[in-house]
Parts: sequence; C-alpha cells; structure tokens
Amino acid sequence: MPSFHEKIELRRLVENDLDQVLEIESSSFSRPWTHRHFLDEIGSSLSTPVVAVTGEGTVAGYLCLKQIVDEAEILDVAVNPALRGQGIGRRLVEFALSQSRGHGARVVCLEVAAGNGGAIALYLSQGFTEVGRRKKYYHNGDDAILMEYTFSAQSEE
Ligand SMILES: CC(C)(COP(=O)(O)OP(=O)(O)OC[C@H]1O[C@@H](n2cnc3c(N)ncnc32)[C@H](O)[C@@H]1OP(=O)(O)O)[C@@H](O)C(=O)NCCC(=O)NCCS
Repeated sequence: MPSFHEKIELRRLVENDLDQVLEIESSSFSRPWTHRHFLDEIGSSLSTPVVAVTGEGTVAGYLCLKQIVDEAEILDVAVNPALRGQGIGRRLVEFALSQSRGHGARVVCLEVAAGNGGAIALYLSQGFTEVGRRKKYYHNGDDAILMEYTFSAQSEE
C-alpha cells in the first residue's frame, strides 16, 4: 500500500498557490515571508520554488531553492502543520538535492535555528552537516546553525 507522501506531487510554485502557502508560512515562522518574497522567487531565474500538492490539489508544503553558480541554498521550507511527520519535508529536501546536483552545484547550504530540532534532524538524515554557527542570530536570541551538503564527497558513494 503506498504511503501518503507517495501520493504527493511536486511542481513549480505559481502565484495562485500563494494564499495557501502564506497560511502555512505564517503558522510555521514567527517572522514569515511575505507575498512579495514569494513573488520574487517565482520571478527569479536563479530560483526554483516548488510546492508539494495532494491528489486534491491542496498545498501540503513548499521549498524555495536558489542557485548561484555552483552554490545552492535552501531559503525556505515548510509543511502544512496538519500534514507533518509523513515524509513530505524529506521529499522536498530530496528534490532540492537532486535539482541542485542536476544543475552542477558543488554544495547546498541552509540556515536553521538551533532550537529547531525537527528541521535539524531532517537535514542530518539527508546528509547535511553543521559547518558554522551565528550566535544569537534570531530575534528570540536563538543561534543560527549553518549546514551544508557537499556533493563531491557524498554523491560518488
Ligand atoms: C521541518 C519540517 C519541514 C519537516 O517536515 P515534515 O514533513 O514533518 O518532515 P518528514 O515527515 O519528512 O520527516 C523527515 C525526517 O525529519 C526528521 N523530523 C522531522 N520532523 C521532526 C520532529 N518534529 N522531531 C524530530 N525529527 C523530525 C525525522 O528524522 C524524520 O524522519 P522519520 O520520520 O523517519 O523519523 C516541518 O516540521 C515544518 O514545516 N516545520 C516548520 C517550518 C520549519 O521549521 N522549516 C525549516 C526552517 S530551516
């Protein structure tokens, strides 16, 4: 029997998705991205913003990926709170890695709050490692952890 996340499809984010995306964004972050942030990602030739949608067309999650030359960055990722813990976040991060690899990235980086144990566990499970820390980076005093996935060492295994 297929698991729920196998019924989820990934496709490019379009402006029509933004009402649902902004609802997930505001329930996921204390300083959520705005409509303008997402529109910029949709319009940027350097960015690949994607949504994960259910069979009914509901937005289950999204990820914004940007690549400059050989360096990719996951700028934003979130899953609908009601649909977490079902492999959708993993699907989105796996997509980011395969897309970046396909576009010749050497590394994928991201920044995550030190207190965000769930997201850190997700990134570690996908092969990201901690490469740095910015002390008290967030407005709540939390440190930012800088993480990277390097293709040269890991994609040839
Ligand atoms: C982080 C987030 C995207 C994960 O999405 P998700 O769909 O729930 O994650 P998945 O079900 O794919 O989990 C994949 C793996 O991540 C880890 N993980 C995810 N959530 C976790 C949690 N709350 N606690 C511990 N581990 C967690 C586990 O290793 C999990 O694998 P397992 O289910 O085999 O144990 C989601 O919790 C979210 O949207 N959070 C709010 C926004 C956010 O923090 N984004 C990241 C900013 S850097």
